[in-house]
Amino acid sequence: MIRHFLRDDDVTAAEQSTILDLAAKLKRDRFLARPLEGPQSVAVIFDKSSTRTRVSFHVGVSELGGSPLIFTTASSQLGGKETPSDTARVLERMVSAIVWRTYAQSGLEEMAEGARVPIVNALSDDFHPCQLLADLLTIREHRGATAGQKLVFVGDGASNMGHSYLLACALAGMHVAVASPEGYLPREDVVARAREIAAEQGGSVEVGTDAAALVAGADVVVTDTWVSMGLEEERAERVAAFESYRVTAELMGHAKDNAIFLHCLPADRGYEVDADVIDGPQSAIWDEAENRLHAQKALLVWLLAQARGVELPA
Ligand code: CP
Ligand code: NVA
Repeated sequence: MIRHFLRDDDVTAAEQSTILDLAAKLKRDRFLARPLEGPQSVAVIFDKSSTRTRVSFHVGVSELGGSPLIFTTASSQLGGKETPSDTARVLERMVSAIVWRTYAQSGLEEMAEGARVPIVNALSDDFHPCQLLADLLTIREHRGATAGQKLVFVGDGASNMGHSYLLACALAGMHVAVASPEGYLPREDVVARAREIAAEQGGSVEVGTDAAALVAGADVVVTDTWVSMGLEEERAERVAAFESYRVTAELMGHAKDNAIFLHCLPADRGYEVDADVIDGPQSAIWDEAENRLHAQKALLVWLLAQARGVELPA
């Protein structure tokens, strides 16, 4: 059966846990799984800039025995003369999976509709689910578990990262909070879905404007750029709106003493986070960035196993 990964809740809690277990195994033994031996190809398409996603998919597909085919939308027919659906109909005859970083979530949904190979969201305006697998792996490593941990996202709650933290952390049984200024709170349907998942998994969801109150007792504090890709023209008004939502040492002081700090990167030091926090002893950002590789390899192995009806490597 073809499964896609367009948003964090496209997998169940048990499936998310299985993927993270596999990611930890692949981190210990990088060549444990070679489902793309041949090599078979994976297309990785970018409408927006990328460092981590591009490199981790290139290296990850190679380490799985496959051949990464990385290209930009601008250099292809996608987005110009050709629809996502027609592009998928062509690529699925040649590649084993399609990974796409784009703007509208609806484009990914159109690409996945009826597709015969797994489609993976490598970041859209609404969600960044691959990043969350890496973050959860990092939290497991640094905190021993995800269930029962409190994670607080401070920043643009209506962004891809704000939405993905809500869904993925709820699935992982965490207590997740989002602190954003008025006008930048997460979408209501995403909050409602996260609350529904949290009720099933024993976690909780809080959304509000008081960052210090929400950060109280946090195990993990996270933030992201105030100006996501595609919103560059809003920079001045966003910097003004988010000015009091910077993650400072003072704000970290409201979290547990041994709390960790995460950021998906790239970071704008002095804006969403001060340098003494992101470069300080509580920061786990480099492990988080490395974990993109292991988490995405596990995701690809899992998606291909679903598509082929084969067991995961033990
Ligand atoms: N965090 C992340 O997705 O980074 P890139 O934009 O460099 O891929
Ligand atoms: N929210 C950011 C994430 C970058 C990885 C953006 O969309 O630009």
